Amino acid sequence: MSDTALSDLTSDTITDAVLSTLHGTKDARLGEILESLVQHVHSFVREVRLTEEEWAKGIEFLTGTGQLCTATRQEFILLSDVLGVTMLVDAVSHERRGDATENSVLGPYFRDDRPRRPDGADISEGLPGTPLYFEGQVVDHRGTPVAGAGVDVWHSDGDGAYDVELPGRTDPAMRALFVTDEAGRFTFRSIRPASYPIPGDGTVGELMRSTGRSLMRPAHVHVLIEASGFQRVTTMLFPADDSHLGGDPVFGVRQSLITAYDTYEAGTGPCRELTDERYTVVRHTFVLEPVPEG
Ligand code: BEZ
Ligand code: FE
Repeated sequence: MSDTALSDLTSDTITDAVLSTLHGTKDARLGEILESLVQHVHSFVREVRLTEEEWAKGIEFLTGTGQLCTATRQEFILLSDVLGVTMLVDAVSHERRGDATENSVLGPYFRDDRPRRPDGADISEGLPGTPLYFEGQVVDHRGTPVAGAGVDVWHSDGDGAYDVELPGRTDPAMRALFVTDEAGRFTFRSIRPASYPIPGDGTVGELMRSTGRSLMRPAHVHVLIEASGFQRVTTMLFPADDSHLGGDPVFGVRQSLITAYDTYEAGTGPCRELTDERYTVVRHTFVLEPVPEG
């Protein structure tokens, strides 16, 4: 398109004019993404007949979202989570086969400075709560145990707070890295997590309030599994009796990730010798898919 064609543009011709400026994009995939983005954004503006005030408000919202981002806070990822984009990108990126474990969101509370702990460790670090015994196994798509898999676990306490949110606490708790044994197993003790709200003090909280949406996530234990030759799994397990399962603000619940959190009275059940309190047991088999060939 000549320079002349880029002047005197109207609402009917401006989209093609912008698209024509992208034809020189060297990276073909980048060109494809930008072209589609421009087409969709222009269509959106036309469809809702966006006003100048509304566009200014949108820019202000996005600016505020960016200004909240720091090394420890990522408001844009939270925005992607609550708009369902995080889970949609996962869905279009991974075709789930058979009973492979489904992914969920990573969330903001993963820490890579977590301690490596031996099988059976108590990762509650003495924090109060209902004892939780977790027995996991990692297998491949044929059911063969995956030994030597790295398994990160992290979760909140019984008030829905992560270690990083506990006043005065700097040392990790309720999080650890385990490595599966020859049978693909890993076990640990901790405390039972509770439901909690996603961060609501920023632009995403403002958006959620103005649309009447709940901030509450159902309780869960996060699990991230990495093993050589297999696709990474970033997932979480939810208790079947949680009242927030149907309204997860980040769309991370999958039927296959709803698990029994079996609760036993003191002196009964499979771990009766290990505690003199009421306790919870979670057992789950995680199924990995091989890295696609080529
Ligand atoms: C979480 O489960 O830790 C989480 C996920 C997405 C947004 C906020 C929290
Ligand atoms: Fe979480």
